[in-house]
Amino acid sequence: MSNIERTLSIIKPDAVERNLVEKIKNIFLKNNLSIKESKKIRINKDEASEFYKVHQSKPFYNELCSYLSSGPIVVMILEGENAVLANRKLMGSTNPKDADENTIRKLYGISIDKNSVHGSDSVENAKKEIDFFFKN
Ligand code: CDP
Ligand code: MG
Repeated sequence: MSNIERTLSIIKPDAVERNLVEKIKNIFLKNNLSIKESKKIRINKDEASEFYKVHQSKPFYNELCSYLSSGPIVVMILEGENAVLANRKLMGSTNPKDADENTIRKLYGISIDKNSVHGSDSVENAKKEIDFFFKN
């Protein structure tokens, strides 16, 4: 049975700054995820704090929100078979040091905070996150 899903991907400031946008997009495309929407934007710290509010009790929350608002990001809607999990597998572990070979974070991540990409972790959160950036 086919299970087409949508998920939200963000290319974070460290990767946009290093001109990795096309390389990362090509990884999605080669792995059967299509890019339905894509826009390069910059968000302010209040918006980043709203986006990451599930992490508000974490010690890294303040730095995380400062970081996501520190420069341009690319937000995308990815679509494909089991897209939420497929994207998470392509991303690799949160800490690039622990990520599998050939994952985006292993290839391009600098550190646990500058780990190049965000991806929704469930279908439910994907819907919320897509709405956050693409509801008009
Ligand atoms: O992004 P992912 O879902 O893999 O990880 P998360 O646990 O949802 O954490 C969100 C983001 O917070 C990570 O991608 C990291 O950028 C950052 N983080 C951090 O800076 N320090 C940590 N110890 C854990 C996460
Ligand atoms: Mg997460």
